[in-house]
Amino acid sequence: MRFSVLVSVLRPIGPVVIGISLGFTLSLLSVSWVDESCHLDARGVGDGDVIGSPPQEEDGTPRGARRPSSIADSEEEDFDPRIVPYKQVQQSAPKKLFRAKYISTELGMRERLFVGVLTSKGTINTLGVAVNHTISHHLDNVVFFTGTHHRKVPHGMSVVTHGDERPIWNMYQTVKYVVAHALDEYDWFYLVQDNAYTEADRIKALVEHLSMERQLYMGVPEEFIGGGEMAEGRYCAGGFGYLLSRTLLLRLQPFLENCRNDILSSRPDEWLGRCIVDYTSTNCVGEHEGLKYYHYKLDKNSDPYKEGNEQFMNALTVHPVSDPEQMYRLHKHFTELELQRTYSEIAKLQAEIKNVSVVAFDGNRTSQWPVGITPPFEPKTRFEVLRWEYFTEEHIYWCMDGSPKCELRGVDRMDVADVIGVALDQLNDKYKPVLRLKKQQLINGYRRFDPTRGMEYTLDLQLEAVNQKGHSRSIAKRVHLVRPLSRIEIIPMPYVTEATRVHVIIPLTLQDRSHVSHFLEVLASGAFETSENAILTFLFIYDPLEAQQVSQNDIFAGVKAQINGYERKYPAVKIPWISVKTETPSQIKFMDIISKKHPVDTLFFLADVNTNVNPEFLNRCRMNSINNWQVFFPVHFQDFHPAVASGDQPPAPAAASTGAAADLVKDAGRFDRGTFDEACFYNSDYMATRARMSADVQENEELLESLDIYDMFVKYSVLHVFRAVEPALHQRHREQPCNPRLSEDVYHRCVQSSLEGLGSRSQLAMLLFEQEHGNST
Ligand SMILES: *[C@@H]1O[C@H](CO)[C@@H](O)[C@H](O)[C@H]1NC(C)=O
Ligand SMILES: *[C@@H]1O[C@H](CO)[C@@H](O)[C@H](O)[C@H]1NC(C)=O
Ligand SMILES: *[C@@H]1O[C@H](CO)[C@@H](O)[C@H](O)[C@H]1NC(C)=O
Repeated sequence: MRFSVLVSVLRPIGPVVIGISLGFTLSLLSVSWVDESCHLDARGVGDGDVIGSPPQEEDGTPRGARRPSSIADSEEEDFDPRIVPYKQVQQSAPKKLFRAKYISTELGMRERLFVGVLTSKGTINTLGVAVNHTISHHLDNVVFFTGTHHRKVPHGMSVVTHGDERPIWNMYQTVKYVVAHALDEYDWFYLVQDNAYTEADRIKALVEHLSMERQLYMGVPEEFIGGGEMAEGRYCAGGFGYLLSRTLLLRLQPFLENCRNDILSSRPDEWLGRCIVDYTSTNCVGEHEGLKYYHYKLDKNSDPYKEGNEQFMNALTVHPVSDPEQMYRLHKHFTELELQRTYSEIAKLQAEIKNVSVVAFDGNRTSQWPVGITPPFEPKTRFEVLRWEYFTEEHIYWCMDGSPKCELRGVDRMDVADVIGVALDQLNDKYKPVLRLKKQQLINGYRRFDPTRGMEYTLDLQLEAVNQKGHSRSIAKRVHLVRPLSRIEIIPMPYVTEATRVHVIIPLTLQDRSHVSHFLEVLASGAFETSENAILTFLFIYDPLEAQQVSQNDIFAGVKAQINGYERKYPAVKIPWISVKTETPSQIKFMDIISKKHPVDTLFFLADVNTNVNPEFLNRCRMNSINNWQVFFPVHFQDFHPAVASGDQPPAPAAASTGAAADLVKDAGRFDRGTFDEACFYNSDYMATRARMSADVQENEELLESLDIYDMFVKYSVLHVFRAVEPALHQRHREQPCNPRLSEDVYHRCVQSSLEGLGSRSQLAMLLFEQEHGNST
């Protein structure tokens, strides 16, 4: 058993270990060769050995075979000792090691497409912005190039300014910029004027199918005008945009300067074309390997939308666009077109899957309805069976608060109305000309949430069906619906470290005194002995009477003595305490005091004296509380009352004393959703939230007493309030006094939690049964 664990641990690092040891062995071998030959050389000098002939070892093997070549040189030079430089080291030493920021850079991976939009001072705020709106969220990188611009650059666009309005100069600068900044990172470069509409997804798709190894200059070819022999070749008309391959730009790079000086042209697209044709002998092409650069030339006199124009429908670019409105209209049109194509594609794929699944191993079963969506979750045991909720249009028969029936409200009501609406639409679509269906009522509704696919519904609908002749009849129909989970998002989270120091805060009242020794014992084994990066602070709470007598009879004297004992035992540990006097204990008031006594970047773990603090949880506390982002309220596991939970058997002594090894089984306790006493948060977050609350507190002082910290964060902060079951956090059973000053909700929660914390239903039932049994006999 242990051996297999060892093997499983070693397996992933096995190759590394072997690699390292092989490396060591080889280097040792080579060292021994060098040493040996040096040694032999020295002996050779002493002996006046014959030069040139390969000296023999004692055992008669020729030495030359095992000798590094550098030593052979020294033999030819009269045995003068000489330092032989190790060439390879010399070569790489001056080269500074460059660590790229991204793996992609290190591996030389490039993005596919760079887009440059040529705009100008006069149009950047109109057409430029329209281009940005219509293409930039489809593409990775869109850069706008302009000669000059107004003082205010549109927000969220990367604009490169060349500082001059001459068109050729700007073209030259643009290409120079692209070559200097983007050539290493992209395979394809698309340049377009801002008065052209680009169907971004199609450009992207085109580029996906082109080989970047080609010197390609692709767009709408045009003949050069005039200029005799110079007029050979074709350039790409700038209006429709053009693609340049990386390979082409690499070729062009050294000649750009020449082009600027030599080529006279009034039009930038012509100038670039001339430059490319002259120096790389590459002509503009409108088609490459069967892929066409579709374009459409807008004409004032024709309406392309109406004609169902093939060329227009397939266009990658449309030119010339006169104003932003036209750009958006074009975008709307092409987006709708794409959407239709996508829908029909989906329908085709679904049909294909259905068609093919018949021949699959388990036949029809692989393509369950709806096709293309993850099949339903299949429970392995009866505990995993997903629960169906029953509902009608008015009520739902499963409620958050545990009652069996409650009114359908809020989002649930909207949800039900929505699925009924969708069901009716679909039915009407299906029986379209023959029948018209109207809802009479929902007879039965069932829904369940399947975490692998989404929300599933089954509806029994009472419908009125009207046929074409106007006859109507009431029918019942069962429908199934799925609201699939789609578009899974990864929420970016700020980075946290496990190195943060945790300040464990324990508020302590008179009643809690007896638990302190157990608490300290657990903490000492969990944190003090392992030098966990945590500081414990006690908050001693006196009521006014106790505070008066503190000099004669300090109720916490015993606790303080215990603390001293631990401080002596662990010299590195300091346990500070803070004393407060209050008539009405309240979490927020205490926290106010503690907050003032700590720096803003302190991470607090507010706990209870019954909490078993262990390193695993402290780490979780560090990971789950994120400054200015998230606060953490763990749900601890609380033991049932020992007398109830253990029945006749005495509680296991080991588990009871350390609490660390306690089993999280359903007879031993439960996760207590009703308490919110434990919390991890940063002081700065507390302070910020507290500040947002102050206006309300001025109006109503009692808020400080009626709210707990959880409610405070939920109501007043903008942070994520993260609540999760936490197996590493364990609490012994305790009689929890509920503070009647708390708001009704919080108080109710507290009472509920105390009652449920007594024992499981079956344990309590057993006790009742025994009691009755005892009474009756
Ligand atoms: C340009 O597009 C980007 C990305 O879609 C967007 O964030 C930004 O607000 C846009 N800028 C303007 C001025 O529309
Ligand atoms: C798929 O359907 C087509 C007709 O639509 C049929 O010709 C073909 O044989 C089917 N393929 C399979 C695997 O059933
Ligand atoms: C596939 O399922 C349909 C009902 O959805 C059924 O009529 C058909 O017989 C099944 N075919 C096979 C091969 O199981």
